[in-house]
Amino acid sequence: MSAKKIQSAFFCQNCGTQSPKWLGKCPQCNEWNTFVEEILNKDSKIATAISSNNSSKPILIKDIDYTQEQRIITNDKELNRTLGGGIVPGSLILLGGDPGIGKSTLLLQFSLSSKRKKILYISGEESQKQIKMRAERINKDSEKCYILTETATQNIFLKIEEVKPDIVVIDSIQTLHTSYIDSSPGSISQIRECTAEILKYAKQTGIAIFLIGHINKDGAIAGPKVLEHMVDTVLQFEGDRNYTYRILRTIKNRFGSASEIGVYEMSQDGLREVNNPSEILISEREDAVSGVAIATTIEGARPLLIEIQSLVSSAVYGTPQRSSTGYNSKRMNMLLAVLEKRCGFRLAAKDVFLNITGGIKIDDTALDLAVVCSILSSNENIPLDTQICFAGEIGLSGEIRAVSRIENRIQEAEKMGYKQIIISKYNKCKYKSNKIEITKCKNIVEVFKLLF
Ligand code: TYD
Ligand code: MG
Repeated sequence: MSAKKIQSAFFCQNCGTQSPKWLGKCPQCNEWNTFVEEILNKDSKIATAISSNNSSKPILIKDIDYTQEQRIITNDKELNRTLGGGIVPGSLILLGGDPGIGKSTLLLQFSLSSKRKKILYISGEESQKQIKMRAERINKDSEKCYILTETATQNIFLKIEEVKPDIVVIDSIQTLHTSYIDSSPGSISQIRECTAEILKYAKQTGIAIFLIGHINKDGAIAGPKVLEHMVDTVLQFEGDRNYTYRILRTIKNRFGSASEIGVYEMSQDGLREVNNPSEILISEREDAVSGVAIATTIEGARPLLIEIQSLVSSAVYGTPQRSSTGYNSKRMNMLLAVLEKRCGFRLAAKDVFLNITGGIKIDDTALDLAVVCSILSSNENIPLDTQICFAGEIGLSGEIRAVSRIENRIQEAEKMGYKQIIISKYNKCKYKSNKIEITKCKNIVEVFKLLF
């Protein structure tokens, strides 16, 4: 397909100065490296290969018929949950994540699992044979999944017209190119222009489109960051590559809550949905060991129980080592200082290692109490009761402060079979249960007396 040459120019992203050529430094605002190519006059007839029954006119909001906007419920429960209850037709969903984290696997697996909806999986990264090999590994064979390798947006739209799928997956946005712009695939202007075309196409045809985007190690350049405002939903697939757990997180969602997460486990044959994440994040133990404490946290909208392990030992070198995995190390140092200064524990000459099991990173101040108890347990070498869990923030004077959504945390702990939860005295909590004992404490010293 030969496209008419389109006029383009370079614009400073800072002040909007136009230039026919790329410039390193903007002559107007003196900013460096801000010029990006943009299209000047796009021929609307060839811009999209779709019929033009789409002239939009103002309608009264009460007259808008939304029954056709029924969500598509997929077979992947975690994906449904993350999207806020299924896929909205005509929406554009961006899935971001580090290379190799499992984005292609997630969406291929989803494509293969479809029983009713026709799905077109377009890859610019792998050949059809390679995708088939991957599909064999995932071990799901579908009647409804079409595979295409293509990178030119105009050809993609023609193929979509041919196949008429309900859902399209494009892997990845960085490999796409439109014939209207000269710059190479993966450059900001290509990415932006391709996404704009795809967005328009999705809105006009009502096909839901998934776009995969890589996040670069060195920041936002050519990464999907620039697109976040264009698409309807931004999902992020994250996890530690050395561990098998992956978290699918909503960063933006025009059609639902942006605080949902989905949890998966990467196995030999693809991703497995984890419907009860608390179960996998707590290691199986026969006997109680010192230095282990269970914390309740909220990830997105979901309560989770996680295990905190710590090891306190006498420092071999003059300067004690402090290291933490999965937990903010500055916060750990603060808690150690509180223990030292406010509660009289002598930890200044001790090495302290802290670890959240499962390789996940948690940023929740409600973990503080469990962190402190795990450190004290290791320091005293007395194991904590395996039936106890914690939810509380520690203040600088050693007091235990209230945390948000305490009811959800207690419910999750109860569901997981814990017999006692220690929370702040100041936490207003209406939840009552005869299965779990709710103990309220004022400060660290009180908790220490209770436990050891
Ligand atoms: P991939 O989906 O290619 O990552 P991305 O598209 O985000 O770059 O996943 C790559 C990793 O997943 C790779 O290291 C191998 C692993 N993997 C499994 O462990 N099991 C499987 O069944 C598959 C298909 C991949
Ligand atoms: Mg991939």
